[in-house]
Amino acid sequence: AIKGFVFDLDGVITDTSVFHSQAWHQVADKVGVKWDDTLADALKGISRMDSLNLILAKDHKENDFTEEEKVALATEKNDNYLKLVNQMTPANILPGIQAFLEDLKAQGYLLSLASASKNSPLVLKKLGLSDYFTKSVDPASLKHGKPDPEIFRRGAEILNLDPAACIGVEDAAAGVQSINGAGETSIGIGDPQVLAAADINFTDTAQLTLANIKAALD
Ligand code: BG6
Ligand code: MG
Repeated sequence: AIKGFVFDLDGVITDTSVFHSQAWHQVADKVGVKWDDTLADALKGISRMDSLNLILAKDHKENDFTEEEKVALATEKNDNYLKLVNQMTPANILPGIQAFLEDLKAQGYLLSLASASKNSPLVLKKLGLSDYFTKSVDPASLKHGKPDPEIFRRGAEILNLDPAACIGVEDAAAGVQSINGAGETSIGIGDPQVLAAADINFTDTAQLTLANIKAALD
């Protein structure tokens, strides 16, 4: 039986995936890499430095910058991103999410956060949602980022649960792959073609209810 939920943050709980994209788009323009939707999707769930390397590799520019210059570009992206995060309020919680978290808590499920973002504690605080999550995986402690299963495996472990007793919720293909690799049931939120590997697909967060999940698992 399912006892816990392991949540991604950006693009699942809140609309920050749009902010990450906006902030990276500015960096891509600066280094002369053409931005498109496929690149934006490929960056979802991917750590800060891995994202920068993916952007540069798109136009074979990965060797055009020193490590120091790369760190400066990643810092510039994060500064762009933080300007957007600092304007966030609970109005940035995606539709249905607060009610879903409330319901999960009332039904006794354990909740953890498996976000690749080092900014996730700040984002949760801005949304007023910090108290829903018993534990969070510290992304700085990971050896491998998504799509590696490590982060979702740890998301179950910190709740003292077997992965098979957990459902992972993601908006990124890399994240769904991580959930599946960890041996959890995967829910993909967004384009079902991009997230075809998920056990359950919902096109948006408003569909995320226990009743819909139970119906999909039957
Ligand atoms: C993920 C986002 O949650 O966190 C990615 O989907 C982002 O877009 C990654 O790059 C790392 O975030 P941060 O805040 O540590 O740069
Ligand atoms: Mg995400």
